[in-house]
Amino acid sequence: MAFLIDGKKISAEIKEEVKEAVAKLAAEGKKVSLAVIQVGNDPASSVYVGNKKKACEYVGIQSLSYELPEETTEAELLKLVEELNNRADVNGILVQLPLPKQISEDKVIQAISPDKDVDGFHVQNVGRLSVGADGFVSCTPAGIIELLKRSDVEIAGKECVVIGRSNIVGKPMAALLIRENGTVTVCHSKTKDLKEVTKRADILVAAIGKPKFITAEYVKDGAVVIDVGIHRNADNKLCGDVDFDSVEPKASAITPVPGGVGPMTIAMLMVNCLKSAEMTGK
Ligand code: GUN
Repeated sequence: MAFLIDGKKISAEIKEEVKEAVAKLAAEGKKVSLAVIQVGNDPASSVYVGNKKKACEYVGIQSLSYELPEETTEAELLKLVEELNNRADVNGILVQLPLPKQISEDKVIQAISPDKDVDGFHVQNVGRLSVGADGFVSCTPAGIIELLKRSDVEIAGKECVVIGRSNIVGKPMAALLIRENGTVTVCHSKTKDLKEVTKRADILVAAIGKPKFITAEYVKDGAVVIDVGIHRNADNKLCGDVDFDSVEPKASAITPVPGGVGPMTIAMLMVNCLKSAEMTGK
């Protein structure tokens, strides 16, 4: 029986910590605020944005909501980002992705001030992470490090295998595991003999995007398995990239879906907003 890494509980603890710190800042007369921009009304994005605003309200962070029409131009969005960059009362700026096709996501992300880039997507923050300097880190991989640390999983010296090389999860995940002194391998769609590589992992992070792809034969006995995937199966039940029933008996610890990595992303966004406010004026 694997130990269940409880992302719901750990994310709740983190939000309580942020709430306390935000209240302390408020007592000193400092407010924390996050601008959340959504362009168009993609239903999944609306759910994510709604959850982010709810979390802000819970921890005492003010959220400024910008809901722009689908046909917004790149110039209009860049103008809004610039205005928010220049507002002293805005600590964080989040532009929900994906954006409509007439807008370059990269241009918009790079237009956000690196000091307000609470998603950790700006090249300056990515660069800081890769050289081990302080900066904002992408929320999902940062949340995974918190899950491991708060579950007393040692990373130093361990064989860590990350499946997936996206800019939001796979690449920053690898950088963070290196920073924690893990021995890191990144696999992707062109990896030859994936199973041979994943079977070496003491810590396996699956960010593949394919439901129940990782079965017991990909996993070493006693491995810690982190599932970043979130999918809805035929009977409308949530599942991850890991076939939980197959892998759980073999793992020493595993994250469930739902209730594993998912809730950590928003908790770490709250941490980044707090950090941004604490940095202001320093
Ligand atoms: N779309 C899906 N995930 C994310 C995220 O973490 N941040 C932003 N801005 N958009 C997303």
